[in-house]
Amino acid sequence: MSADMTFRRSDFPDGFLFAAATSSYQIEGHAQGGAGRTHWDDFAATPGNVVRAENGDRACDHYTRYEEDLDLMAAMGLDAYRFSTSWARVLPEGRGTPNPEGLDFYDRLVDAMLARDLKPMATLYHWELPSPLADLGGWRNPDISHWFADYTRVIMDRIGDRMFSVAPINEPWCVGWLSHFLGHHAPGLRDIRATAHAMHHVMTGHGRAVEVLRDLGVRNVGAVCNFEYAHPSDDSPEAARAAELYDGYYNRFFLGGLFKGAYPEDVMKGLETHMPKGWQDDFPLIGQKLDWLGLNYYTCKRIAPVDGPWPSHAEVEGPLPKTQMEWEIYPDGLHHFLTWVDREYTKGLPLYVTENGMANPDVVGQDDDARIDYLNQHIAAALRALDDGAPLKGYTFWSLLDNYEWALGYEKRFGLVHVDFDTLERTPKASYHALARALKA
Ligand code: NOJ
Repeated sequence: MSADMTFRRSDFPDGFLFAAATSSYQIEGHAQGGAGRTHWDDFAATPGNVVRAENGDRACDHYTRYEEDLDLMAAMGLDAYRFSTSWARVLPEGRGTPNPEGLDFYDRLVDAMLARDLKPMATLYHWELPSPLADLGGWRNPDISHWFADYTRVIMDRIGDRMFSVAPINEPWCVGWLSHFLGHHAPGLRDIRATAHAMHHVMTGHGRAVEVLRDLGVRNVGAVCNFEYAHPSDDSPEAARAAELYDGYYNRFFLGGLFKGAYPEDVMKGLETHMPKGWQDDFPLIGQKLDWLGLNYYTCKRIAPVDGPWPSHAEVEGPLPKTQMEWEIYPDGLHHFLTWVDREYTKGLPLYVTENGMANPDVVGQDDDARIDYLNQHIAAALRALDDGAPLKGYTFWSLLDNYEWALGYEKRFGLVHVDFDTLERTPKASYHALARALKA
């Protein structure tokens, strides 16, 4: 028998939730069911952006195979399913007339979760912006917060009554910085002004969606941010400053907006001149009371100072063992963020790990010890954080299925369940079976 989990469900407080996560564009098969075009379809169609120019047209065909996928989660002993709804499936043009097939699909999906006792944890934006809105500037356009609020109302009018929890936007840093400054994700910009605008509008979009969710009486409204631990590359004061600034725009920027009514000063030194007009007035909208915060955590970075324009630093390779993503395995970072976020920002608000997991070049029949080990180490870090008082209420594995890993295509396998992308056959990996034993014990 292969490696096993080192925890049991009974090590966690009563009512602690275990979940798996996916996102719509990464698994559904976007070409079917009347969904509209998205900026990921456009980005992938541009040579050089995505490995083998792969897109989400077919993905895991979850759109037709969702019952089988939900069965897999129920059989594993999971309590909840973190999924996302696709803006372009609900509103093919981004605004205007809804796609009835899309609304029917999410309706069926949610009922099928409830029939299996899986709590629906919805995210409303996991990155596939409808192309007609991207054409209008996407997250750079201040009107996007209203477009997003309108979409929130359409989808939540239909399924909001059955949600366990809802978060408007997945990983604001990726929507802002990764997509507009680093250019690694759609729309693939490398533009500081676009970045500043997107970083802010993703927050106003969050705020307007929260208003709609409250108005509709949707329960348990939160936010999902991603975190990376920033190590200075050496012990010089310059490296310490560089790592501090990385921590600022990656980890502290959105928390500042959501929980302190201000963006961090060190980040604003570089971003302020590029911010959209009137940004200082938006914090009452951005910082509305939430019911929980979700943390997505995978890795740490080593940050070195370099000469050049702000933010004038670079990532260098670190010494720890790495996953297929070349991400260092650093479970202490998860303990750090769970305790630090509670202490400095959320102060007793329920926390969830909304994503954690690793990519591996998995082959059916091979052992899955590396993933089991990765999860053991991170779950142990979460247990330590609980012992240290962090109000952690649940833990979500990324991902249920091998899926479309964005610019890296189908090559990076994060699933607890292997997907053969020719036949679409699902095969649970050893980590799936080990988790099932731990959760049912
Ligand atoms: C974060 C994202 O939410 C998800 O879409 C992605 O696949 C994983 N991290 C792994 O990179």
